[in-house]
Amino acid sequence: MIKANYPVDQFAELRTPFYYYDLEVLRATLQEIIKQTSGDPFEVHYALKANVNPQVLAAVREAGLGADCVSGGEVQAALDAGIPASKVVFAGVGKADWEINLGLDNDIFCFNVESIPELEVINELADAKGKTASVALRINPNVSANTHHYITTGLNENKFGINLSELDKVTTIVKGFSNIRLVGVHFHIGSQITDLAPFQDLCVRVNEIQDYFESQGIKLENVNVGGGLGINYEHPNHFPIPEFEAYFKIFREHLTLRPGQKLHFELGRAVVAQCGSLISRVLYVKEGTSKNFAILDAGFTELIRPALYQAYHRIENLSSDRVEEEYDVVGPICESSDVFAKGYSMNATKRGDLIALRSAGAYGEIMASQYNLRALPKAYTSDELR
Ligand code: LLP
Repeated sequence: MIKANYPVDQFAELRTPFYYYDLEVLRATLQEIIKQTSGDPFEVHYALKANVNPQVLAAVREAGLGADCVSGGEVQAALDAGIPASKVVFAGVGKADWEINLGLDNDIFCFNVESIPELEVINELADAKGKTASVALRINPNVSANTHHYITTGLNENKFGINLSELDKVTTIVKGFSNIRLVGVHFHIGSQITDLAPFQDLCVRVNEIQDYFESQGIKLENVNVGGGLGINYEHPNHFPIPEFEAYFKIFREHLTLRPGQKLHFELGRAVVAQCGSLISRVLYVKEGTSKNFAILDAGFTELIRPALYQAYHRIENLSSDRVEEEYDVVGPICESSDVFAKGYSMNATKRGDLIALRSAGAYGEIMASQYNLRALPKAYTSDELR
C-alpha cells in the first residue's frame, strides 16, 4: 500500500510549521488517473487552485495533464511549469482585462465564460489583437452536489455560470461575435463530493443540454464536467488514492459524447490532497478545567479549512506511541476559531512533539495568510528530504 512516509529525522532539523509533499503518493495518484482515462477521449486538467508548488506542477506536467486556471497568476504558473497552452483552460466569474489578454497572447485552449458581459469583453479584446478566442460556456446545471454549502457551485442560487433559462439568448449573442469561437460547454457542481450520485445527475443534465445545442444546429467539440471528486479525510492511510475508477466510469456510462467530442475534467483536490501534510510542533500542553489543549505552532494561517469549513483533518503525533489521550488541538492565532479539532484522541503529547495534519495537499498551503504577521509556510518534498 502506498502511504505517506515521514522522514522524521530530517524533520527534526527544520523550522516548523511547514508543508511536506510526498511525491511518490502524488505520482502514484497521477498514474492511476492515466490508467483510468486512457482509451477514452478524456482529458484531465489539474485545477491549480488546489496547490501550485513548483515540484507538484512538474509532476503534473510530466504525467501529461493539462491545467485549469482561475487567474492570470495561475495561467502564468501553468505556462512557467511547462504545461502547454493548448491544454490550459481559464475559468472564473471575474476575469480582468489583463488576465484575458494573457490568455489571448498565449493562445490558450479555452476560456470558460460565465456571463454575457464577459463574452462581450473577450470578443472586444480578441478583436483588438486580431485573434479569435476559443470559448466554452459555463452553464449552471442546477444539480445539487450534497456537499458543504460553501463549496456548492452548481445551483441556481450560486453566482456561477449561465442559467439554463438564458441559453437561447446567449447562443444568439455568441453567433454575432466574430472574434469568438464556441468550442464547448462547461459545468462544475461543487467540491469534496464523495457520494458519486450527483455526478450521474450531472451526466443526465449534460445529455439534455447537448440535445438542446444539437437542436440549435450548434456543434460542440468539447464537454467539460469540472472537478469535485472528493477524498477520504478520515482514513488517508487506507485510501491514499481517490475513487478514480468509479468516478470516470460514471461519465463513461452515463454521458453520451457525440462523435469526435472530447470530455474534459478539472480535478484539484483528488490529485493533490493526500500527498500533503502540514507538519507542526506542539508548543505547550495546557491543562484546562475539563480538558487539555495541545497548542501547536501552526494555526489557521497555515491551514484554514477547519476554521472556514469545519473540515476534518486527521492529526497524527509523529513523535509518540504513548497511550492515546484527548485534546483540543489548537493554533496560536488570537481568534477562538483557531481550532483544528476538539476532543481529539491522539498519542499522548508533550512539548516539542512533531504533529502531522494529514490530507492537506489541496487548499492548504495555497490558502495560507500572513495574519498576525506570521511568515508564509515553507514546503519540502520527499524528493528533497530523502
Ligand atoms: N473547476 C472549477 C470551476 C472549480 O470551481 C473548482 C473548485 C475545481 C474545478 C476543482 O475542484 P476540486 O476537484 O478540487 O474539488 N477551498 C475549498 C475548495 C474550493 C473549491 C473551489 N472550486 C476547500 O478547501 O475545500
